[in-house]
Amino acid sequence: MTDANIQAYPMSRDAGCPFAPPPQYKELRETSPVTRVRLYDGREAWMFTRYEDIRAVLSHPAVSAETLNPDFPFLTPGDKVSKRAQSFQRWDDPRHATRRRMLMPHFTIKRVEAMRPRIRRMIDDIYARMIEIGPPLDLVEHLALALPSSVACELLGVDYDNHEFFESRFAVRLDRRASAEQVAQANAEVMAFVEDVVRSKYGTNRPDLIGQFVTQRVETGEVTHEDAVTDATLLLLAGHETTANMIALGTLALLRHPEQRDRIVADPGLVPNAVEELLRFLTISQSMGVRVAKEDFEVAGRRVAAGDGLIVPVAAGNWDDSAFECPEKLDVTREARGHLTFGFGPHVCLGQPLARMELQEVFSTLFQRFPGLRTDIPFEEIGFKFDAVFYGLYDLPVTWDAEAARAVAAEQEAMA
Ligand code: HEM
Repeated sequence: MTDANIQAYPMSRDAGCPFAPPPQYKELRETSPVTRVRLYDGREAWMFTRYEDIRAVLSHPAVSAETLNPDFPFLTPGDKVSKRAQSFQRWDDPRHATRRRMLMPHFTIKRVEAMRPRIRRMIDDIYARMIEIGPPLDLVEHLALALPSSVACELLGVDYDNHEFFESRFAVRLDRRASAEQVAQANAEVMAFVEDVVRSKYGTNRPDLIGQFVTQRVETGEVTHEDAVTDATLLLLAGHETTANMIALGTLALLRHPEQRDRIVADPGLVPNAVEELLRFLTISQSMGVRVAKEDFEVAGRRVAAGDGLIVPVAAGNWDDSAFECPEKLDVTREARGHLTFGFGPHVCLGQPLARMELQEVFSTLFQRFPGLRTDIPFEEIGFKFDAVFYGLYDLPVTWDAEAARAVAAEQEAMA
């Protein structure tokens, strides 16, 4: 491959259908599935676009997530700042596995199921507020962000009154266009905020996640105060922004595919499957899957050398037709559970049971509770987050049949 045809990474979705991964992934998968790409600082890295290769790289013992490794391939100047703040997500085993095991009990299916009734009540309150305000309104602000932010705050023990503050700082951190200075500033502010939260838990034995972590791990000397702040920051970020983008983009995808929406409305039993398919189809984790080789190894017939940067875009795997037939088709009945949207290997998403449950609760109620739900602006004017670490929507102006929604709400109340 000559220097001239080495493509730049990250690639953007704005060149094609906004629901689809960048079109280059398909071209490369067909012509050069293991290829060289150029990063913002001129450095090159390997990029993998086949489902099987992505899984092989993400689970290979010679592959490292350590951003302190001097060869780690950062994607933007801001990335270098935010990823250097090392949560356990940027550690390798065994220290990564030890920390992950400490947090795992908070995310088991049993623990998350116990939260379901509370989350249903939260959704009811959010819907009631939306009905009170009336259409049109921005679904991102009033539902997509409001729900996961409230859930993350309650789970972690953070005061929801601060949501606008931390949401705005995290938005800078996740914007691939932000400068290193802007990211450093936003990072410092959000870390100072989380530091106060962590401090407030000392000596209190609070039942929330951060409270329990401080009591059981920090006050016992097992985990440092600094590490607790960094990990709590990761959980606050991962706990709200990801699911928020899925709710917004998932709603839009279903509005644009009304036959799929009608299927889940007619058969709510299909919703868990539809959630998996939406996760696959939309793959909001668009800048995830970046690693460095810590030893020489071979993958897909290629020799990778220690120190090589590895770009493993899970969206490319989710649209590989050797893994999912007609991947460009949104089909809520397909078997999509093998998707890579939550990652793969040792760093696979810790919060996936919670994200799944929130998404299931939203998509099994939203269209029933807001009859006639539709976007309030032309599709071309919708603000897609082409340049964010997590893909999604900046806003989603929607409207609905207000009278019918009030009637459904009254019926619900009468049944409760
Ligand atoms: C739709 C929602 C979500 C998506 C698409 C998502 C996606 C991901 C992905 C792709 C990874 C792996 C990153 C990598 O390999 O470098 C990851 C890791 C992680 N996620 Fe999620 N996530 C979601 C929701 C959540 C939620 C709700 C939480 C917690 C409240 C959470 C907490 C985490 C944590 C702690 C890790 C690091 C795990 C480790 O390194 O061992 N995520 N997530």
